[in-house]
Amino acid sequence: MKTIDRNTDLKSVMESPSGHDVIARLLYSLGLDEDLITKTPLGNLKIRSLKSLSMGKLNDASIDALLELLNSLDDEDVEDHKGIRPAWWKEAVFYQVYPRSFYDSNGDGVGDIKGITLKLDHIRSLGVDAIWCSPFFDSPNADNGYDIRDYRKIMEEFGTMEDVEELIRECHKRDMKIIIDLVMNHTSDEHEWFQKALQGDPKYQNYYYLKDRPNNWTSFFAGSAWRYFPELQKYGLHLFAEKQMDLNWDNPEVREEMYDIARFWLEKGVDGFRLDVVSFISKTEGLPDGDPVIGSLISFRGIEHYFHGPHLDEYLREFNEKCLKPYDAYTIGECPGNGLKMSRMITGDDRDELTQLFSFDHIENPGKQRMQVYDFDLRKMIPELVRWQTQYSDHCWPSVFFDNHDNPKMCSKIDPSGKYNKEVNKLLVTMQMTLKGTPYLYQGVEIGMTNYPFEKIEDYRDVESLNVYKELLKSGVDEKEALKRLLWGSRDHARTPMQWKDDTYAGFSTEEPWIQVNANYHEVNVETEEQDPDSVLNHYKKMIRLRKEHKALVYGSFEQIRTSKDLFCYYRTLDEKKYLVIINLTDKDRNYPMRMDHRLVISNYKNYSNVLRPYEANVYEV
Ligand code: NOJ
Ligand code: CA
Repeated sequence: MKTIDRNTDLKSVMESPSGHDVIARLLYSLGLDEDLITKTPLGNLKIRSLKSLSMGKLNDASIDALLELLNSLDDEDVEDHKGIRPAWWKEAVFYQVYPRSFYDSNGDGVGDIKGITLKLDHIRSLGVDAIWCSPFFDSPNADNGYDIRDYRKIMEEFGTMEDVEELIRECHKRDMKIIIDLVMNHTSDEHEWFQKALQGDPKYQNYYYLKDRPNNWTSFFAGSAWRYFPELQKYGLHLFAEKQMDLNWDNPEVREEMYDIARFWLEKGVDGFRLDVVSFISKTEGLPDGDPVIGSLISFRGIEHYFHGPHLDEYLREFNEKCLKPYDAYTIGECPGNGLKMSRMITGDDRDELTQLFSFDHIENPGKQRMQVYDFDLRKMIPELVRWQTQYSDHCWPSVFFDNHDNPKMCSKIDPSGKYNKEVNKLLVTMQMTLKGTPYLYQGVEIGMTNYPFEKIEDYRDVESLNVYKELLKSGVDEKEALKRLLWGSRDHARTPMQWKDDTYAGFSTEEPWIQVNANYHEVNVETEEQDPDSVLNHYKKMIRLRKEHKALVYGSFEQIRTSKDLFCYYRTLDEKKYLVIINLTDKDRNYPMRMDHRLVISNYKNYSNVLRPYEANVYEV
């Protein structure tokens, strides 16, 4: 039983995994670095001092809520073994496909499964070993397929079960694995289970959270997390869109249903799963109200009751035991809000929970949020990346990504003008291929696709963007400002069609696509870049090859060299092999004293210079 109170010092709270993660997360949201507490005398500050550290954002009630949270979270620190255990997925490069926006094979403006199969050779030509396919299951598409109506059926627009079986076979033929995106936290309100619940069947009502009264939790997509169902005179919980109803994982029948679904797909031959918001499946019993301040600092009101819920580790172990182990299946969990130390509980080699996870803090600068207008500073990403390199331990293996379908393009965040588009994209892949961890590429990054210059609300498609827009107007924000925020943070930036060639609709489709094509497709496209030895695309291929050829870039130790904060410099070392990576994180020239005996292996600039040019990224053999 933990007894953390107002007078416990922050440093000792941060010694336990949960204490570390909660405090680190709060500090991060306040724009402060955790090293301030763990590495300076400020660690002697008491919990109560968080009130002043937060400049008054945390009040007495929030401190009480924080203490309750800290005392309630379970800790088991993960035992470390020495050395990294080799595995295929540690050596692999993954590529995420968002089917709706990848390639339209039948000219209806919507990407589809056959379209993916037709373009597998492109993916393979990059040197990629595995694909992650975003959901393709039957869905009314309230959230582009993350709202599943039938887990054993394929969305009509996307094709048929035969198409998916063919996709799996064709991946394997090319020696690529395929993982699919399983949404286990919620179903569509049109799923048969929810429909039966609505018709009054008590068995299925117990599959969801249906309550007489809502609590104060907010949805990730704006507004309350509760929707009223007049036919039942009850409120249903939806952490996401109002058509995505949260499943009650405390009900063993729900868990068995999900395991059956997972086995169904493993039997079809998929190699594993990306598990959508899987860290949210366990919620505090009774669904107590969330503290408004803690919630908003971590992300949304109520999240302290489900970001690493009381039974999460238990359910993941059960899932692993019953489904994953028998198939030797790979998993990567989407775990927003989970910090580094508690993530070790989920992915430790001997924990038998998940293989890997995605954490997201590095994607936004400390103290900033996605829908906020701010200048992203690449330098501020580094401390968080380095922590996952150095403190996650050999017992766990990071995922290294900068882009996915839920975020504006990283290259556009770093360089909104696009002046250094090529250099920045090449820099990003240099980091991905030389850091410790499994690189996850998102479709389009390999050609340097950028954000779309959205101007009007009619051009947005994403439920989150549309909800946030409405909510902002409701709260008195004017249209211009609301549009500006969307332009900064909308997920639709990642969903414009893949640019295949300099042809109508970028060669994505022969008909008008479901969402606008970026006008820069005339230059930024696969076909053109294939011809250009200096293209982003060819740099991706070279970097992936480099990683494959040099095991030190996969399994080598990581050691950061302390220099100015404008540079990111590190060694990767394995046996006698040693590589040095030097990256200029700014758009200005920077000096770095270079030893002449280091051999340059690859650079994102064509010719030599004695200064580091804007965003220059070089790999040397030492
Ligand atoms: C995370 C997914 O990546 C996102 O696209 C989706 O909207 C939510 N989970 C809800 O399923
Ligand atoms: Ca189509």
